[in-house]
Parts: sequence; structure tokens; C-alpha cells
Amino acid sequence: MSTDDRPKLSPATRAAQALRHLDGATGSVVPSIDLSSTFARDADYLPRQAYIYGRDGGPTVRHAEAVMADLDGAAVSLMFASGMSAFTALTETLASGDHVIAPRVMYHGGATWLHRLADRRGIAVSFFDGTDCDDMAALVRPGQTRLIWIETPANPNWDVIDIAATAAIARTAGARLAVDCTVSPPCTTRAMEFGADIAFHSGTKYLGGHSDLTAGVLSFRNDDAFAGEVRGIRSLTGGVIAAFEAWLLIRGLRTLFLRYDRASASALTIAQYLATHPGVKEVLYPGLPSHPGHAVAARQMTGGFGGMLSILVRGGRKKANDVARFTEVFIPATSLGGVESLIEHRIAVEGPYSVVPDTLLRISVGIEAVEDLVADLDQALERAGCAI
Ligand SMILES: Cc1ncc(COP(=O)(O)O)c(C=O)c1O
Repeated sequence: MSTDDRPKLSPATRAAQALRHLDGATGSVVPSIDLSSTFARDADYLPRQAYIYGRDGGPTVRHAEAVMADLDGAAVSLMFASGMSAFTALTETLASGDHVIAPRVMYHGGATWLHRLADRRGIAVSFFDGTDCDDMAALVRPGQTRLIWIETPANPNWDVIDIAATAAIARTAGARLAVDCTVSPPCTTRAMEFGADIAFHSGTKYLGGHSDLTAGVLSFRNDDAFAGEVRGIRSLTGGVIAAFEAWLLIRGLRTLFLRYDRASASALTIAQYLATHPGVKEVLYPGLPSHPGHAVAARQMTGGFGGMLSILVRGGRKKANDVARFTEVFIPATSLGGVESLIEHRIAVEGPYSVVPDTLLRISVGIEAVEDLVADLDQALERAGCAI
């Protein structure tokens, strides 16, 4: 595994060099993929370099984890086969009778899982509305609340939650704070610097960045017994990322800062354009000063507001669906954070717990020429008849 003892270099440099991998024997500057699922022991029958079996992760997984821990400013990162496998491993630490607080507007898969835990596993879950930390604090059950989960900006209306204020509530409650940073990866937000205990990422999105892998990350403030418990759960449930996906993720991380920067700039241009478009009722983008979470976002998203925005179109559900059908550059598909721009009629994919308006289109801005993206949305809104 590579290490990097050049702490003075900026995270962007460290990410671009993937912790400066350099093979001493061959001089190769790109890490190779180690596919071995088992590792020979030494003459004393001890593991060499702590690798034993593939389900605990091998050298390529460890390398990806080292890059992520470095970026997140974490003591240790664990990598999973998907964001949801990371989330379920974390919630597997909860026992019957424990209490979780989470936002009502959050990634729908996570919300569905929390409902299931409440229905089937005796874990109490309280959902708070909006972004008001006082509402969240009022839900704390002393001695019972173990986990506060937030997502910021949150799918799909991009509510911004104050991480530092939430961390203070979690500290008082004696609970852990985990932050879903999928849309605010460490090139813009290092959640631990605001007091989070755990940073979560769907690596499928910005970290991978090319829509060609699924991955999940949990980064921990402390490499303690709790992180060890989650590692053990990953090992027992087989949720570890595969070596090839870990390698793809390392490759994606090398351009994370560049891609996020470009997506942020283009998303702001598109949001400003759509804000005055007659076919659009509302633009939801934390980068716009009119967004209610703008001030908090400016404080905690120091590397850009990202490429995710949503619009509420005029004219009802059918017209919203038509806009997503009529785009020619934006691809009508779910997911986000890739180099190609996507558009999604969100209500069509969310499950029974969805609280999304039926005119909402979720837009993931990629790295294409922004003028092509603006023109494409313009023609799709026109063709769908939203401006009438
Ligand atoms: C904000 C957010 N969190 C978690 C997830 C789940 O990640 P994955 O699809 O990698 O399991 C997603 C997936 O869309 C997401 O958008």
C-alpha cells in the first residue's frame, strides 16, 4: 500500500497523485490491481502486512481506503460494494431499542431502509422536517439516541443542513453524527472538520465520477472499537468492494477536484439561466444566493456548490416527464456525479415514502460544454410546452 508523508501538499495534489504511488521495483506510477482473494502467511504462520482473505479487503482496497482517509481527514476509511452496503453495515451496529434521527428528505433508499429497521428490528426512527436544528434537537431521546444521520445537500431539493450545529446536538445527546457527503465530497466539504464522527459517501457518484462502478465509503474520525465493529460487520456480511472497483475508484479520485470544479461552475450558469426561464417555476440550487441554505452551504462547501440542482417546471407532472424525454444531451437516467449530464423525473423512481413534488426534475451536471447543456434544456422545456 502506498503512503504519503508530504502533509504540506494540498489535498488536490495528493488526490491527483493517489498518494503518490510509485512502485520501487518497476517505477510504475499507477497502482496495479491485486486480485488475490487469499494471502500466504509467513514462516511463523502470521499474516504478512495484515492481509488474510479477500472479504477483509486486499492491497488495492486498502490503497483506495488510504486515499479516501487522507481526503476526508479521517483516521480510517472502509470501502464497500455500494453506498447502501456501507449504510446497512453502519445501521447493523444498532440494537433493538436504540433510536435514530434522520431527515425526512434524504436519499430514498436510505429512508426505506430506516423504515424497515423501525418496522422489523425494534429500532426507533424519528424523521425531522426541513433544516431547523432546533427541530432536530427536540427529537433527541436521552440515553436512547445513538445515531444522527444527515445528508447535505439533501436529495432531491438540496436542503442544506448545518453540520457543526448538528455535531453539537449529537455531542450533547451522546450520539454519533454521520453525514452523507455524496453530493459534497471532500474536495468541497470535509465533514469531520465540522465535527462529524463519520463521513459517508456513495462512491458510485462523484468519487468514481464516470458512472462505471458502484462503491460506498465510511470514513471514521477515530480508528476505535466502533470502526472495528463496522469492519467486522463488513467482513461477516461480505460487503467489501471488489479490487477492480477499488482501482476504478482510485482512478476517479485523481480527477475529483477538476470534475467537481467544472460541474459546480456549469451548474451555477444553468441555475442562473433557468431562474428566469418562463417554463420554470423554481430552481433549487444551494449556489444561488436565493436558496435558503446558501449561507450555510457557503460556509461548509468551500470548493464549490456541486453539480446537482432541481427544477420545478410549470404545467404539471406530464410536462415534467416530457422535458426529461425530450432532452438530447442530458441522458434520462438515475444517479449523479458522473462526467455525463443526467436528468431525472424524480417522482417516477422514488418509493412509497417519497415527499417529492411531481413536477420536480433532478439534474446532474457533468463536464460537457455548458452552452450545449443550456441549449438542450431550453429546447426540451419549449418542446414540452412548459412556457405556455
Ligand atoms: C445521497 C445518496 N446517498 C446514498 C446513495 C446510495 O448509494 P449507492 O447507490 O452507491 O448504493 C445514493 C444513491 O443514489 C445517494 O444519492
